[in-house]
Amino acid sequence: LSIFFFQLERTFIAIKPDGVQRGLISEIMSRFERKGFKLVAIKITVPSKDFAQKHYHDLKTRAFFDVLCDVFSSGPVIAMVWEGEGVIKYGRKLIGATDPQKSEPGTIRGDLAVVVGRNIIHGSDGPETAKDEINLWFKPEELVNYSSNAEKWLY
Ligand code: TYD
Repeated sequence: LSIFFFQLERTFIAIKPDGVQRGLISEIMSRFERKGFKLVAIKITVPSKDFAQKHYHDLKTRAFFDVLCDVFSSGPVIAMVWEGEGVIKYGRKLIGATDPQKSEPGTIRGDLAVVVGRNIIHGSDGPETAKDEINLWFKPEELVNYSSNAEKWLY
């Protein structure tokens, strides 16, 4: 193990129940993987409504909060941590605008979703939320440190 081990940026990404039910797991994961980001944690779980409310606590005053948490806890979610240079900001770029009517073609929501209430994927919106969301969803020992062969060609 190198003493120069350097931790790249990490973000929390979730495929929501609508994305899972529509069979889009591998389609979504492959976009992150092919870009050059590295998967360091993953699980499939049905969040409780209480957990959904914790995850979306920033939005608790919004009119859509209750419906949002109902949908989010309605079925299995794929919870992931992806790692790579710039992954927080670029992950949001891969995902596209919140409202799929406004997301550009080529983005996940632009290509694969139609309405804001069924926009199939979540991604942390900044370094602080990334840290908080990773801690909410994963125990430290569930994050895997490894070097991939691709890294020396990516960086
Ligand atoms: P938000 O955090 O604003 O967007 P994003 O997921 O792009 O970070 O909102 C969280 C989710 O709430 C969003 O993905 C879909 C849902 N939502 C609605 O249902 N209606 C709305 O008007 C907005 C803004 C969001």
